[in-house]
Formats: sequence, structure tokens, C-alpha cells
Amino acid sequence: MKPVIVSGLKPSGELHIGNYLGMLKQAVELQNSNKYRCFYFIADYHALTQRYNPKEKAEEIYKMAVDAFSAGIDPKKSVIFVQSHVSEHANLAWIFNTITPVGKLQGMIEYKEKLSEGQIPNAGLLDYPVLMAADILLYKAEFVPVGEDQRQHVELTREVVRTFNDRFGKTFKEPKAVHTKAPRIMSLDNPTKKMSKSMPAGCLYLSDSPEVIREKVKRAVTDSLTGIDYDPEKRPAVSNLVLVYSEFSGVPIPEVVKKFHGVGYAKFKEELAEVITKTLKPFQEKRKKLLKDKRLVMSTLEAGTKKAKPIAQKTMKEVAKKVGLI
Ligand code: TRP
Repeated sequence: MKPVIVSGLKPSGELHIGNYLGMLKQAVELQNSNKYRCFYFIADYHALTQRYNPKEKAEEIYKMAVDAFSAGIDPKKSVIFVQSHVSEHANLAWIFNTITPVGKLQGMIEYKEKLSEGQIPNAGLLDYPVLMAADILLYKAEFVPVGEDQRQHVELTREVVRTFNDRFGKTFKEPKAVHTKAPRIMSLDNPTKKMSKSMPAGCLYLSDSPEVIREKVKRAVTDSLTGIDYDPEKRPAVSNLVLVYSEFSGVPIPEVVKKFHGVGYAKFKEELAEVITKTLKPFQEKRKKLLKDKRLVMSTLEAGTKKAKPIAQKTMKEVAKKVGLI
């Protein structure tokens, strides 16, 4: 049997290039390598832990699926579905809740970050990593492609595995997080902050038009030194742009630096905007088409649910027995 890969996409706002380069691009590559059984899902339950407008959520969930398909997640090669459609995710999370110390969850970086941003914590927000552990272990994943910000959550999943196996007998294997070469893209207008929708001027969305991309890249901060170089410590802003160029063009970083030796920021930015626009074009075209075909998208997701469900049920049954349920 091929090793299993699991990852989730949280539908809270549109995808930006940080999400794409940090996770989605790699998820597609792993799928296309043909070496794994890939399970990718829209993490709608996770999205409910943040304040949201219920009138908009359904559309966001649907659009996230469209984005995944448009980026190259292929239902012929991967199982793709919506988390809440496979109820075993929540069921297994409940079991894992009973073996996870609250103190551990209160210490999680992302949780503390959300609190410091002023979010009033609900129990679901605290429990977020436990649901993630359930997502991953239901399919007995070995590898979990995620952005850097999710590393600690995969670490918690490994702890859940150890605790569970200790108490109830060997059932799960510890999964490993896999990161891309660009697990953390910084905001174009502030290189000390991760790219995020909360800082829109520095955030490039996958659906941005060529004009918008050009404008945002043009306004990207650089530094007072001259020349294009890659040194994230000393020149974080320029290095971030070089990394984005490298990722979108497929040209390795040292060659990007060489290519733009002696070239001014304005010219470099023009070419950067160009390479981003060009790479995103097929994505955007596919997205436009799929957004008009809701029936196809929904039926594809349903077919994914049908494939995921029996596997999830099997694990859940095994777990129920081990923990002493009848
Ligand atoms: N928390 C992840 C994120 O914000 C999404 C996610 C939910 C996930 N469940 C997962 C990722 C399981 C990997 C595996 O990006």
C-alpha cells in the first residue's frame, strides 16, 4: 500500500500566494508523483472557530473547493471532500479530546496568537488542534503537507498518537509534517509579518487581476541597499521577493540573484509581477469556468465523500472498540 497523505484547506477568506506556495502547490506535486494516496479536504469545521458571517460561509466553502481543483487537485488522483460531510472527523476528535490535556492546548502558538488579536476564545478554537489530529489519523496519514504555521499542530498529533497507543494499544503511527521551500511568505508591505488577508496591501490573492498584481508588487517594500540579493536575515523584504520569483518561475534562488545582478528594483518588480501573472493565468481560467459549474463541483465533492467515508468508518470502529465503547 502506498503511504497516505492528508491535508486540509480552511475556508476562511480567499487563498493567497502564501497559502499556495506554503501548501497547495506541494499538495498537487505530491498527488502527481503517484507515490501516495492523497486525501485533501475543505476544513469547514475548523473555519467555524473564528467569527464569521453564516450567510457567506457556504459560498466560501464552495469557493475553496473550486480553488483546490483549479490549482490542480485532481479528483481522479486524490480523494477530495468536505470535512463536515464525513462525521467521523468530529467523532474521533471527541475521543482524542478525552486524552488531550487542556494545558497543552492553551499553550499552542496559534491559539495564543488568536487571543492576542482579540478573539474571544470559544471551546472549538481551543480544540482546533485536536480536530486536526482526528483529520490526520482517521486516514492513518504518514505525511502532512502544511505551511510552517501548522507545524506545532502536527507535533500535537504525534503526541496524541503516543498517548493513544500507550493507553489503548498500538493503533496509529506518528505522521510527519512536510514543508515546502517556501513555508512562510512574508507580507509585501511588511517583511516582518506573515502574508495574511488582515494586511490586504501586502497580500497577493490567487484571483488578483494582472493589474492588481502589478500594483501590489510595485508598492512592495524593499530596503535602502541596492541590488537584488538573497539574505533573509539582513534583507528580509528583497529576499522575500526573490523567493516568490524563484517559486513562481521554477528558477533556483542563486540563479535568480545572478539573473538580476545589477538590475534595479523597478525592473525586477516588473518581471516579478509578470511571472506571477503568467503562472496564475491557467489557475484563474479554470477557476472562472468552475465557478459557473456548481453542479459539477458539488457532485465531485460528493464522490470524494463516498471514498473517504468507508476508510474513516473503519478507523472509527477500530478506535471505538479499543477505547471500550460497545
Ligand atoms: N489548520 C490548517 C490550516 O489552517 C487546515 C487543516 C485542518 C489541516 N485540518 C488539517 C491541515 C489536517 C493538515 C491536516 O491551514
